Amino acid sequence: MTSKPQPQLPAGNASMLSGVSENLTFHASPESFIVNHVLHYHKQHPGEVANRVPLRAKILNRNVIIVSAYHQVRAVLCPRDERTDDEGDGKVPYVAAAPYKRLMEAFFPPPNLLLNDGCPHRKMKEPWAVCVQSLESEKMQSRIVARTSGLIKRLVGSEAVDLYKELKELSWEIFLSTVLDFSPADQGYADINAGIWHSPRKTGIGARKKLQSIILDRLRSRRPVWISEDVLKSRPEEEIVNHLLMSTSSLAVKAFSSLLLAFLLNVYLFGGDDAVPGQILKWIATGSPQEAEEKAEAVLQETLRLSPPIVGVMRRATTERTLPSLGSSESDTMVPASWDVWSYFPGANRDHAVFGGDADYFKMARYLVDDSRLPPPIAFGLGSKTCLGQQFVFKAATAVLQAFRQSRVELKGSVISPGMKGWLGWEIASPEQWAKDIKQLPTQRPSKPTMIHVIRNT
Ligand code: HEM
Repeated sequence: MTSKPQPQLPAGNASMLSGVSENLTFHASPESFIVNHVLHYHKQHPGEVANRVPLRAKILNRNVIIVSAYHQVRAVLCPRDERTDDEGDGKVPYVAAAPYKRLMEAFFPPPNLLLNDGCPHRKMKEPWAVCVQSLESEKMQSRIVARTSGLIKRLVGSEAVDLYKELKELSWEIFLSTVLDFSPADQGYADINAGIWHSPRKTGIGARKKLQSIILDRLRSRRPVWISEDVLKSRPEEEIVNHLLMSTSSLAVKAFSSLLLAFLLNVYLFGGDDAVPGQILKWIATGSPQEAEEKAEAVLQETLRLSPPIVGVMRRATTERTLPSLGSSESDTMVPASWDVWSYFPGANRDHAVFGGDADYFKMARYLVDDSRLPPPIAFGLGSKTCLGQQFVFKAATAVLQAFRQSRVELKGSVISPGMKGWLGWEIASPEQWAKDIKQLPTQRPSKPTMIHVIRNT
């Protein structure tokens, strides 16, 4: 029996591009950057075409390993030896706070969960994990249906609209009425308009401060119903404000609109042949209400798999680590201490070793089949830092679809570029088409407007 070779650093590409141009290419399109690096590697190692090899790059002058095999993303985000004991002092194998501080602290001020690791993180998360369940209640669902019905009423019969833009306004209204518990009848509602997060990055900090002070006033005058007494008593006011800020941030709004856009396009226009109504809508509507719900959830899971709104998360290795390879004759990947690891979700979610040969394609019933080998998509992270809003987002997206279905409207439009079809999993797109048609940071969305008519079903 041959023994496994020694762990090795991933294929280095630092010589291929200078540090500066690597930064630019990566931020212009992670997909194109990663795919081009993989193609370059495959040219040199033709025997490894089927593997999603980890790649080494210099991003923002740091050594970064980009990981896009499903099992390796798992190994980074939920390492088996993650410490959760009470003696834990934050010394987990991979930390998030260190890489995030530089990128996100200005927008997500501490104290907050995202900028925390290890035992302090776990202690902070426990009461929030309980309290967030109230956001998933029927009452919140009906608010979401009401806000969405309002949007549909406004759009029916109007000129074609940029669907992503409209969904961004809707997402903000949904977060206002659920997370912050504001109703349109409330005094001052109009002042907290969606414009608060529309500012460019350089004025974004001003917008953040404005929202922070609105949230603080809100908390003191009338606390949002879902914030429990326990959280109110046990957590500092500053932390509560910061979490409300994170949950209604520009990033959360953009991520939710990205998901809604991909979800509605899949349900109403799958295939891109301008068919009205879409085949998926018909499929969902066939059968009992419970079956319809299950089918809608399966389509949402498949949407999250192929088109995760957030393309990845960062970690920094606290000690030297290895990432396991799949084959027993291939060496594991060495991760030196203090290197960053970037988990790329669209890659992991299209890993043929896990999702099969049709991994790149949208299959509406993929998640309807009872198959224990089919893992969930990675869209909300994994492990101890999994998104706190995951269930809420899932329920909110299905409530939006419910409102569309109840309104008996159809979406008509065919502005589906090759890169968009690749993003949605309708067709395979080249890295160049992907880079041209899809913006990936901070969240995935089409680079050009997706013009859609909302018409009443006759
Ligand atoms: C489609 C919308 C959203 C997506 C795709 C998303 C995705 C994510 C991801 C990938 C992470 C993991 C970060 C990491 O591992 O480094 C995360 C963390 C988090 N998310 Fe979300 N999120 C969404 C919306 C929300 C909403 C609406 C809320 C609040 C209600 C929320 C609250 C949080 C919090 C508090 C964390 C930090 C968790 C921790 O560090 O333990 N998210 N989210």
